[in-house]
Amino acid sequence: MIKVQDIVYVVYRAPDLDKMEQFLTDFGMYRAKREPDKLYMRGAGDYPYIHVTEKGEPGFAAVGMLAGSEAELDEAARLPGSSAIETIDAPGGGKRVRMQGPDNYRIDLVHGIKPVERLDIRDPLAINFGYEKNRLFELQRPKNESAKIIRLGHCVLKFTDGSAARDWFINTLGMLVTDRLHVPDDPKVTLGTFMRCNRGDKPADHHTIFALHAPGDINVHHVSFEVQDPDAVQIGHYWLQGKGWKQEWGVGRHLLGSQVFDYWRSPWGHIFEHYADGDLLNASVPPGDYPATAENLAQWGPELSPRFFESVVT
Ligand SMILES: [Fe+2]
Repeated sequence: MIKVQDIVYVVYRAPDLDKMEQFLTDFGMYRAKREPDKLYMRGAGDYPYIHVTEKGEPGFAAVGMLAGSEAELDEAARLPGSSAIETIDAPGGGKRVRMQGPDNYRIDLVHGIKPVERLDIRDPLAINFGYEKNRLFELQRPKNESAKIIRLGHCVLKFTDGSAARDWFINTLGMLVTDRLHVPDDPKVTLGTFMRCNRGDKPADHHTIFALHAPGDINVHHVSFEVQDPDAVQIGHYWLQGKGWKQEWGVGRHLLGSQVFDYWRSPWGHIFEHYADGDLLNASVPPGDYPATAENLAQWGPELSPRFFESVVT
């Protein structure tokens, strides 16, 4: 059985690669490779790229997820709508199967992409708490810079039938339900499901995929990238503001997943999130169930942006 272990990359299309590179650089990524019609951007972490832009009409093209083993690619290739096993022509190589997800989303199952050396970013800040002092005789001087992304953390997709989509990720990719969100007045109606990778005893992010029920608006909702610590989120916020990019919602702290978050719009109106300090759970944690209220979206932060659920705002 396929058990995805991580999220590796997302693929977008955009008509202007220079503009996309500028945004992603200000957002805290690094150029990995640039071709005439393709842009690969990486984080500071182990993967050779985490964001790909193909030149074209603006839109979301694919999400790449890490297979638990090479054998899982054979399994994926046998499923309806799947490609054969292909060699990936991109930094780090590896193999992939392009799978047909619900609502025809392209889900790439990948294996064997060679890791790269990590890039230098600042260490996590040592914090002096009220009753616990962790930094003595040293000054706190984080640099004013972009948020320095480490890795891709999760992807939120909108589906015609959010429950059917959830079942696909559980049954086809071996994911686990972490938390379900339901209509506040009607607990039977599912609005969305947070799903994590099944890593057995090993910790996994609270969610790697969120399947949002949004008939009539099939699109990516947002993609989220992990940074070093909450200071990096806040410093990155002012960095993006200084560069004139459009903010969407934040800085705040989520309830489900607990991440300190900050949401921005790309030049073509797609939402990109920075996060730090998220929850990690192993496979033994049972699913939670919550009404989809504003309080359950954030523990603290600014009021929810009224256009937050709009896929594209330019
Ligand atoms: Fe998110």
